[in-house]
Amino acid sequence: MEILTLGDETLRQKAEPVGDIDPLIKKTAEDMIEALHKQRGVGLAGPQIGLLKRIFVVHVEGDDPRVFINPSIIETSPETVKYEEGCLSVPGVWADVVRPRRVKIQAWNERGRPFTLETQGILARVILHEYDHLEGVLFIDRLSVPKRNRVMAKLEKARRA
Ligand code: NI
Repeated sequence: MEILTLGDETLRQKAEPVGDIDPLIKKTAEDMIEALHKQRGVGLAGPQIGLLKRIFVVHVEGDDPRVFINPSIIETSPETVKYEEGCLSVPGVWADVVRPRRVKIQAWNERGRPFTLETQGILARVILHEYDHLEGVLFIDRLSVPKRNRVMAKLEKARRA
């Protein structure tokens, strides 16, 4: 499974809803979790593997892997928190990003079962980051302009090296 990186236009497109939650999408979710483990990441979204569908997987320490299909963010806390993020699609870059502390999300799992989850901390952080991918948004978009410029300059330098 190839993971697309910054510069690939697929990462900038809005993903389409998943139709039937069938054996194929279940297999895709399993493959995504496997790729996530292989890359030692905490989250992976459809567009990152060139699949413009509303699906992402999350696996944070101390938790089981979770699959989110056709997710809706129901609520986020007004209270925000700053936390360092990275992304498998933006290799070599870590930066503090401000996001809501808590999130309430509704989605379907890989077995087609709907669920609602209210969470905070690292899990909420990763969920919000992955949800952004479905909208074509990357974490570097959420940095201040000077900070983003510094990051882009660093990436450009690394690309030329
Ligand atoms: Ni990411």
